[in-house]
Amino acid sequence: MLWLFPQQCHCGMRKSFFMKTTNNTILMTGGTSGIGRALAETWHRAGNKVIVAGRRTSLIEEVVAANPGMSGYPLDVEDQVAIQDFATRITADYPELNVVVLNAGIMVAEDLKGDEWLEIAERIVNTNLLAPMRMTAALLPHLRRADDAVIVTVSSGLAFVPLALTPTYSATKAAIHSWSLSLRHKLKDQGIEVIELVPPAVQTDLMPGHKNNPNILPLNDFVDEVMSLFAQTPTPAEITVQRVMFQRAAEREGRFESAFNTVNQPR
Ligand SMILES: NC(=O)c1ccc[n+]([C@@H]2O[C@H](COP(=O)([O-])OP(=O)(O)OC[C@H]3O[C@@H](n4cnc5c(N)ncnc54)[C@H](OP(=O)(O)O)[C@@H]3O)[C@@H](O)[C@H]2O)c1
Repeated sequence: MLWLFPQQCHCGMRKSFFMKTTNNTILMTGGTSGIGRALAETWHRAGNKVIVAGRRTSLIEEVVAANPGMSGYPLDVEDQVAIQDFATRITADYPELNVVVLNAGIMVAEDLKGDEWLEIAERIVNTNLLAPMRMTAALLPHLRRADDAVIVTVSSGLAFVPLALTPTYSATKAAIHSWSLSLRHKLKDQGIEVIELVPPAVQTDLMPGHKNNPNILPLNDFVDEVMSLFAQTPTPAEITVQRVMFQRAAEREGRFESAFNTVNQPR
């Protein structure tokens, strides 16, 4: 890891930092589809060892078969015990593991008039917030010993301007943003960098209708821009493609209310 001059940025105080773009060993949770799979495959092609994890074993097999040299493991991040067992196994199998991308997530609409929303909300908190915390706790002892260690969290534009259709999803992503700021601050002296990926709406299967919505950023365009940001020196503390700045910068540009109304306008 290469440190330059002390420097501050608006997104969490830290010294300048370069994440390697090649020769990392990267664990991607939620690597079976969407953003996780696309980033995993791109990092794999760029000369990194990539390990994908997810529940759908048929997709794990498909991703690994399509990318010789990649590895895949079944994992349900809703299962707290499974996370600990997985961390023990993965660090034994890959002692050179140095990058963890906490990407697995779910987004489910909540009908506050119905009976099911609390159960849905608890699942979302478990998957999107508690699981990244549990995975981080399980891997921290390993990452403290690793060279060039990086934790990549995945928040959302909805962390900054919530979508009322998905209140708990938006809240978990706001929590991930806040947690990332503190984690970055606390881990910087332990040789672990924290980078927050802040996607806007991207064409994936995260929600019904997302993948074919022409108003949403195509996955390939998103991944290309993300990779160009990861290639910058120093590596940005937040990976924010242009499209997400509508939400990311709304508060500081004094247009939060109009952005909220735009995001939540009846469709
Ligand atoms: N697409 C967007 O518009 C957007 C915007 C902002 C943020 N994000 C974030 O980006 C991340 C990836 O989402 P995506 O858009 O790529 O959606 P996606 O295609 O639905 O991918 C979600 C991934 O998470 C995994 N996952 C979900 N629950 C899991 C569990 N219990 N255990 C293990 N893995 C689990 C899924 O794998 P299995 O089903 O195989 O387990 C899948 O690989 C999420 O954190 C999401 O919140 C997406």
